Amino acid sequence: MHVSSMGVSKLCFLFSLALCALLLLLIPALQPSQHQGDLPQPRAHTKPARAGTGAGKPSQHPGGLVVPLQADVGKVTVTVGRNAIDGGSMGQGTTRETKRTGDGDWVYTAGRGDTQGTGKHTDSQTGPKEDFLHRAGGVAGAGGSRSRTPLELKDIFIAVKTTKKYHKSRLDLLFQTWVSKAKEQTFIFTDGEDKELRRRAGANVVNTNCSAAHTRQALCCKMSVEYDKFIESQRKWFCHMDDDNYVIVPSLLKLLSSYHHTQDVYLGRPSLDHPIEAAERVKSDGSVSVKFWFATGGAGFCISRGLALKMSPWASLGNFISTAEKIRLPDDCTIGYIIEALLEVMLTHTHLFHSHLENLQRLPTDTVLEQVTLSYGGFENRRNVVSIGGAFSLVEDPSRFKTVHCLLYPETDWCPSKGHH
Ligand SMILES: *[C@@H]1O[C@H](CO)[C@@H](O)[C@H](O)[C@H]1NC(C)=O
Repeated sequence: MHVSSMGVSKLCFLFSLALCALLLLLIPALQPSQHQGDLPQPRAHTKPARAGTGAGKPSQHPGGLVVPLQADVGKVTVTVGRNAIDGGSMGQGTTRETKRTGDGDWVYTAGRGDTQGTGKHTDSQTGPKEDFLHRAGGVAGAGGSRSRTPLELKDIFIAVKTTKKYHKSRLDLLFQTWVSKAKEQTFIFTDGEDKELRRRAGANVVNTNCSAAHTRQALCCKMSVEYDKFIESQRKWFCHMDDDNYVIVPSLLKLLSSYHHTQDVYLGRPSLDHPIEAAERVKSDGSVSVKFWFATGGAGFCISRGLALKMSPWASLGNFISTAEKIRLPDDCTIGYIIEALLEVMLTHTHLFHSHLENLQRLPTDTVLEQVTLSYGGFENRRNVVSIGGAFSLVEDPSRFKTVHCLLYPETDWCPSKGHH
């Protein structure tokens, strides 16, 4: 009796040892794999009403907002272009070159698997690689799981800001050209219902219910809706465009591929050659001033999801409007203020984005198709267009967008076939 009970307890002991060993082995296998889709989103507990200006009166530091700043840390996996980057192979595949063009603008040319990242640098052309590589190496090395999914078009949320009076004159051209290459990811933010537009773009048209006036408040109201819709969309990149921008979709994808959406990335064209200075009325009483750079909205700009989430306390659910009211600056300046002054993340300056405020004719013809955004002068300045020849004359295509489009996509049915020209 005694012997056999000893035997049983020994057996039990051995069995539990084996069970423990098995469990230990299984633990890594049981851990949930991390999916690309698991993007963090802020949890908002309150939704102030948004209508017109300053509505909702959100508090300066909304206690109801929980921002998961750390959400993606630890699973930062860096996949760039076709080459996944990891601690070991980062030295290679980093082929970015820059060249100066005649008029002093920078042209971005990037090879296969080019790499670049983090918002902690201020010039996309001058070698942020070390910083990026350092951070990526550290995090990816410690984090373990790696993603090798390259950035796809569906990962980008492109917001086009417009107003009802431009639905015909400006949006038609965009739908005919670049938007046709990014239908699913392009969202039109406007201020009036339009059955025709709705039929054309369906749920991709957002009526912001903001005022149609070209005032700071109305523009900020639209930006606020763009931000909220982006957060809701779960996509990796937010790109804001104006309705007079041509987006060279492959260039945009290539540019964003060289960063990672979990890093703090704010990319755009500075509208001035110096930072703007404003009275600090968010963190202090306005007696001190802050200097910061901002990307000009008219040229378009992009923000990574990681950074957008950090902006939430000052940007989500109507907070953007009250932030803009406090510093009394337009929408694009307010974005710069939140990112540079409040979050202390630097704008990555790029000259691949273009607005109608610059002299577009100065852009060298052979670099036009490498840019990310283009624009054209409006009624005031009809001659301010990129200088590019091709399928259409200036009379047939005053904005040059159709010409650019046919050079990029010659197979388009309305483009004249090569033989004819
Ligand atoms: C604008 O108003 C309509 C009608 O009230 C509503 O369905 C829609 O959700 C509103 N849009 C936004 C962005 O709040």
